[in-house]
Amino acid sequence: MSSDRVVELLRKAYGDEIETVMNYQTNAIVLDGVRAEEIKESLQDDIQEELAHSEQLGQRLKQLGARPPSSMEFTPRQESLQAPADSTDVPAVINGVLEAEEGAIETYRELIDAAQEAGDPVTEDLAVTILSDEEAHRTEFRGFQKEY
Ligand SMILES: [Fe+2]
Ligand SMILES: [Fe+2]
Repeated sequence: MSSDRVVELLRKAYGDEIETVMNYQTNAIVLDGVRAEEIKESLQDDIQEELAHSEQLGQRLKQLGARPPSSMEFTPRQESLQAPADSTDVPAVINGVLEAEEGAIETYRELIDAAQEAGDPVTEDLAVTILSDEEAHRTEFRGFQKEY
């Protein structure tokens, strides 16, 4: 069976994924301008993936006899992903996305270690799979960053 640390990290990751969905969607709606179009489309694609991640994390929590957090248990963290005051400030959004993806990568690496220590290969495997998606997101937005 899994450790408290594994459950804690799964719950943290669940909250982060949901917060990411909210902020990617808000930014995809708020951004204006021709140069923003590609970023907006990419955010829309990622929203679907982050939502799928949260579902997988939630189901894993249930399998471990725990449950994902509801909104009152949740602490927002993504200060740098707040929609910019200037709706054409695409670089601000790109930097916010990169920070969020870095944070996610760090959490999934911690989860991989914790699951390994706890002898929980199923959670470990899930964390590895999601980590590879987050690294792909980071690569995509690093590419966008080069243009600005
Ligand atoms: Fe994700
Ligand atoms: Fe991501």
